[in-house]
Amino acid sequence: MQATAEQLITETEALYSFEENLLLQRQKQQESNARSYPRRIPLALKRARGIHVEDVEGRTFIDCLAGAGTLALGHNHPVVVEAIQKVLADELPLHTLDLTTPVKDAFVQDLFAVLPTNFAQKAKIQFCGPTGTDAVEAALKLVRTATGRSTVLAFQGGYHGMSQGALSLMGNLGPKKALGALLNNNVQFLPFPYDYRCPFGLGGAAGVEVNLRYIENLLTDPEGGVLPPAAIIVEAVQGEGGVIPAQDAWLRGLRELTARLGIALIIDEIQSGFARTGKMFAFEHASIVPDVVVLSKAIGGSLPLSVMVYQDWLDQWQPGAHAGTFRGNQMAMAAGSAVIRYLDRENIPAHAEAMGQRLRGHLKNLQSDYPQLGDIRGRGLMLGVEVVDPAGNTDHLGHPPAFGKLASFIQNECLKRGLILELGGRHGCVVRFLPPLIITAQQVDEVAERFASALKAAVQRL
Ligand SMILES: Cc1ncc(COP(=O)(O)O)c(C=O)c1O
Repeated sequence: MQATAEQLITETEALYSFEENLLLQRQKQQESNARSYPRRIPLALKRARGIHVEDVEGRTFIDCLAGAGTLALGHNHPVVVEAIQKVLADELPLHTLDLTTPVKDAFVQDLFAVLPTNFAQKAKIQFCGPTGTDAVEAALKLVRTATGRSTVLAFQGGYHGMSQGALSLMGNLGPKKALGALLNNNVQFLPFPYDYRCPFGLGGAAGVEVNLRYIENLLTDPEGGVLPPAAIIVEAVQGEGGVIPAQDAWLRGLRELTARLGIALIIDEIQSGFARTGKMFAFEHASIVPDVVVLSKAIGGSLPLSVMVYQDWLDQWQPGAHAGTFRGNQMAMAAGSAVIRYLDRENIPAHAEAMGQRLRGHLKNLQSDYPQLGDIRGRGLMLGVEVVDPAGNTDHLGHPPAFGKLASFIQNECLKRGLILELGGRHGCVVRFLPPLIITAQQVDEVAERFASALKAAVQRL
């Protein structure tokens, strides 16, 4: 979302014929200049079901953006619709601030039941305002209060939301540069173990080891220049930053280091959580126990909801320390419960893993004909293809440079073929696949077919 160059956005808009549509014209006239998705995905939608959306002109698209990863079970899944209808039919209070209700209690039990036991047994939950960003804000306040420290460490390429606190943790400078001072004095950025573009020019196990050594040195050197931090915040798979999975060994090393140094480890599972990566939560691949987990997107079953779950040693803030009116959305909790139960009952993590492998196989097959597909990576159904320019100068690891323009052409050609995909990563060069987790094998094959045809056309456009 954040990385696409304005110039590329304009090209996509101009190429797309749906621009003639009245709704799109009005949207362009009346909505803020900050609008983002409609510039690259200029659709006016009227109906949706499963992995498909239909626009007002009757065209059907496969939705591999799925509300930026929100729609774990796709659009209007029967269990979600039924849960929402039941809340209405039973005349339950729709809004309760943070007062408890049977729906809320059931939701908490359902969530705790799918969190790893060694995390859940000492966990507390805070209901946050409805966005993922708000859970991140809450986490910052929680760890600062509990530790009495103000510094937070974040990672290059990280994305944690758009409020000013969360923005100060963001790697991408685009949305920050117009704002001047954020919390920047208290945020230190660390290199993420981005294997394909290893910041240390090493990659593999050596890249992981040096990365951890760098962080350890920074935190233990008495003249390292960084005040002891309250926390380190990290995505186990960076999403907006370009679908970059952290290696399990690295995440384990980071956990070991932070535990040893008394630094809270905040895992941002807002995008990667709820079966997306082939486990219920992405940090489970590394078998670690975080101190704080922030959750949103899929947790509300398509409706706005966010929570922070944390170890009880951090529960030192005072009553009212993080409040907010919209923390009691009963429909979102009922829908969220329905999603969590379905994911668990139907073993959707295993399905996401299998479908992810299938899609990855198709993409790898294409790679032999298209050197422009530089790196195919991700976990489960959180996949990305880093698009490169094979004619460009290679980096330390022998990899060609990012090719955002081609990625933008691919996205546009996919849209013409009824496939919605988003871009991410540096220079907008990563084509991202975030389909609903209920996608079938046949539908995965269809996605791959449309992608292959779009890729061919995009390369011809260069
Ligand atoms: C990892 C991660 N954290 C935080 C956020 C912010 O969530 P929201 O957009 O709901 O504020 C996002 C959104 O994409 C995200 O991907």
